[in-house]
Amino acid sequence: MPREHGEPGALKMAPSLLSADFGNLAEAVGEVAGVADWLHVDVMDAHFVPNLTIGPPVVASLRRHSGLYFDCHLMMTDPGAYLGAFRDAGADGCTVHVEVGRTDELIGQCRSLGMRVGLAANPDTPFEAVEPYLGRVDLVLCMTVFPGFGGQAFMAEVLPKVAAVRRALDERHLAVDLEVDGGIDRVSAPRAAAAGANVFVAGSAIFGADRPWEATEEIRAAVRSHGGGSSGAR
Ligand code: DX5
Ligand code: ZN
Repeated sequence: MPREHGEPGALKMAPSLLSADFGNLAEAVGEVAGVADWLHVDVMDAHFVPNLTIGPPVVASLRRHSGLYFDCHLMMTDPGAYLGAFRDAGADGCTVHVEVGRTDELIGQCRSLGMRVGLAANPDTPFEAVEPYLGRVDLVLCMTVFPGFGGQAFMAEVLPKVAAVRRALDERHLAVDLEVDGGIDRVSAPRAAAAGANVFVAGSAIFGADRPWEATEEIRAAVRSHGGGSSGAR
């Protein structure tokens, strides 16, 4: 049974552990436990992206320290081989990249394992690549940097795609979360919200700050003060 994931379309903050101290992950989770809606877990396989990070054993360890919804972002060439392991480790939702192909199969596999399903698109992957799957997923992730590393600059050129996804979701009355990931902070988050995003992943802006919980709340407040972050509010 998945943990609480909140209303699709509602404003959610998803701190990314990628910029946390990997020697103190449980402590990092504790720092945002009271304010995060989801915990974003960046899984990198050193193949789809040139970096290697977290696997199922780490997710299982984190699970013992947190009841938060785990939003696992699988930057992997072959996520299908690991979906079961992530589910068993305590993942609530898994997001696969449309660029790796076999999307129908991966969505079906994720669903049959009882997880929420996300579909991610890199900055240079067009709206048309995700469009056929909008009715079959719980989340669309528009990358606002090229995946692989934290701390990169937000790519505003992705915003028209975010807007196109939101428009299509609204037109089809689909209750799907629209997430942005990469370079999200107090300045970029409201811009992404204005384009239609409602889930905000932030790594360095949160775990690079002195008080991660405060940084999380500041980003949320910035989105709210610009009237964004909920599909119903626009
Ligand atoms: C990028 C990851 C992101 C990353 C975001 O490959 O998918 O989740 O941690 O980090 P910041 O917020 O620092 O761009
Ligand atoms: Zn991510």
